[in-house]
Amino acid sequence: MCPFKKDALVQQKGTYSVQSRHLRPVCAGSVPDLRPQVTLSNSSSHLRYTCVWTCGRSKSMPSGSDKVVCVTGAGGFIASWIVKILLEQGYTVRGTVRNPDDPKNSHLRELEGAKERLTLCRADLLNYQSLRQAIYGCDGVFHAASPMTNDPEQMVEPAVIGTKNVITAAAEAKVRRVVFTSSIGAVYMDPNRTPEKVVDETCWSDLDFCKNTKNWYCYGKMVAEKTAWDEAREKGVDLVVINPVLVLGPLLQPTVNASVRHILKYLTGSAKSYANSVQGYVHVKDVALAHILVYETPSASGRYICAESVLHRGDVVEILAKFFPEYPIPTKCSDETRPREKPYKFTNQKLKDLGLEFTPVKQCLYETVKSMQEKGHLPLPTQNDEPSYSNDHS
Ligand SMILES: NC(=O)c1ccc[n+]([C@@H]2O[C@H](COP(=O)([O-])OP(=O)(O)OC[C@H]3O[C@@H](n4cnc5c(N)ncnc54)[C@H](OP(=O)(O)O)[C@@H]3O)[C@@H](O)[C@H]2O)c1
Repeated sequence: MCPFKKDALVQQKGTYSVQSRHLRPVCAGSVPDLRPQVTLSNSSSHLRYTCVWTCGRSKSMPSGSDKVVCVTGAGGFIASWIVKILLEQGYTVRGTVRNPDDPKNSHLRELEGAKERLTLCRADLLNYQSLRQAIYGCDGVFHAASPMTNDPEQMVEPAVIGTKNVITAAAEAKVRRVVFTSSIGAVYMDPNRTPEKVVDETCWSDLDFCKNTKNWYCYGKMVAEKTAWDEAREKGVDLVVINPVLVLGPLLQPTVNASVRHILKYLTGSAKSYANSVQGYVHVKDVALAHILVYETPSASGRYICAESVLHRGDVVEILAKFFPEYPIPTKCSDETRPREKPYKFTNQKLKDLGLEFTPVKQCLYETVKSMQEKGHLPLPTQNDEPSYSNDHS
């Protein structure tokens, strides 16, 4: 089919861009962004054309160009980083927040690209219509919103019903993929796991154990993730899940979230000792990158453990004390009667295989403290010698 309208005044030799709907490439039906370029030349009796298909996406064009995605709970610690990186990669983002006028969300409007490509939509996890409006017309959804509390009434229903609502709205909008932020809490809370067992994506927490120990946060996240998988299967939604351990790193939002508070208490003097327990740690930027990586990788599937290392609390306070000796960091364990708890084994190979390089936990701890100082959540040390992050703290 000739790409030019019959009456078009295309008599001159040269190269023309034409609309792709006028032509179909004979090959590469699955290659996105192919655009035809038509070159006209004279043959003896009439004008000829040859067509070259080029990929419209040049090397410098960011991966998210022309794509609209929704991020739920956009003002939160992790979601703010997801929004930031999505905007940097050229995506158009609809961020859901419960109150767009709340100053705690104002940092989002300052992000690079926000003026042109970020819309804040008012939505509550328990209000289906609000989520439906935010998600309609999107290519993908990053579902990060969730209560972060151990109060069963505030935790379980919004986490579970909210997730069901998001998957239903995503199915209705026929989005390409949903990335759900679950938690290691849905993976490793199992009293029957042996110390040799490597925690991987096949592991599920023991729901009765979560209930009996009143760990309502892990209970809520576990039921929410199960609900996400069930709903996605039933409604034909492509779902990928990220299971982060405790997330630390620089804050974009003006308030301190629950996981960063975990470190703050060791610096303010409010924690006089540290617990005899272990914890996984990961940098917030790596968590955000992991979400976008699994969204953009067509072959990504299932769950992805997002963890850099597992440390005893004693290791954490030791690292903090080396970087920031001016703060009243505890030196005593609250339970020295039991043997020191050993870190569990885990694998983060699935994310590494996708190309994610994890930030070392020491750098992560350092950046967390510096960020809390910069945001005014932690008084600056009084001594003159500023600590700095370098590899000799190993
Ligand atoms: N931080 C961690 O260590 C960690 C580790 C593993 C998994 N996760 C998961 O990662 C996600 C984000 O965590 P985060 O640390 O970034 O927490 P965060 O800073 O507290 O952010 C949570 C967000 O969820 C929103 N939200 C809560 N209830 C809502 C509701 N009923 N309707 C709409 N929005 C609601 C909050 O909005 P408001 O501002 O309006 O309250 C907030 O923006 C959560 O799903 C969490 O379970 C976090």
